[in-house]
Amino acid sequence: MSVTIEPIKPLIGGLVRVDKSRLCDPDVVESVRAGLEDRGVLVFAEIGLKDEEQLAFTDRLGSRVNFTRQAPGSDVSAQDVYKVTLDKELNNEPDYVLGTFFWHVDGVTMDMAVPKATLLSARSLADRGGETEFANLIAAYEALSAEEKQEIDSLRVVHTLEASMRPVWGHPSSERRERWTRMAVPMEHPLVWKHPDGRKSLLLGTHADGIVGWPAAHGRALLWRLQQWAAQPDFVYRHSWRPGDLVMWNNEGLMHRVAPYTDGRRTMHRTTIAGREKPGHRARPEDLARTLEPV
Ligand code: OGA
Ligand code: MN
Repeated sequence: MSVTIEPIKPLIGGLVRVDKSRLCDPDVVESVRAGLEDRGVLVFAEIGLKDEEQLAFTDRLGSRVNFTRQAPGSDVSAQDVYKVTLDKELNNEPDYVLGTFFWHVDGVTMDMAVPKATLLSARSLADRGGETEFANLIAAYEALSAEEKQEIDSLRVVHTLEASMRPVWGHPSSERRERWTRMAVPMEHPLVWKHPDGRKSLLLGTHADGIVGWPAAHGRALLWRLQQWAAQPDFVYRHSWRPGDLVMWNNEGLMHRVAPYTDGRRTMHRTTIAGREKPGHRARPEDLARTLEPV
């Protein structure tokens, strides 16, 4: 066996043991794909990949996509490697990175298939904070009662970039809001995402801004309650980084966030694998408007 995957917690996490030189071997790639479905998040401790190696591995697993090309700070010249950092030299507008302090799923406010998986390599760490947490939204759905599952089964949710920025910018200027409007698309997705393999997951995050047809406050209250439900310790793995760690996660079945940090030295190199499932579509203007009506 050139690869083994050891569970970290009963419901989430897998520690991958593999020799770096074997990473792109077909049997390793197959095991990693299966492990990603099974464990949700995989840790390759201190594997120390260079950008070319991370891109080669990403390409073996699927087709790469850079969904933050439009985000300020994205370094297009670095071939689909996005540098996640608050370093002002590398990133002159930190909105996206500050938004990662809150639970989210990558790429849900873009009119495209939801990215399948994200790979993050630790290049340098923060002096304090910066641990990344992952919550299993498949396990969180499964643990609901039959009655709760039935109540939410057909609900539709409007997701907006503006909602994901609300905790970052309490009172954004109109210029900033217009910029966000150009960077993303308000999307309507099912609350319960039914995957082709038969599994179901909750699609949640700070970007979830209202339930279609419901008064705004009622919709957000249910979404926030479900988000808290899904963030229970049993469903969550918290990763404390060491330099050179590579962590990848199934973005279709997990939400994630990072513990707040201020240190501009923390730099993560991110690559993304394109998804094949497009659970939602652009939100209709009347449904978007409804997310502003409290009752
Ligand atoms: C991201 C992200 C988490 C981290 O880049 O989308 O959520 O730990 N990053 O930096
Ligand atoms: Mn993210």
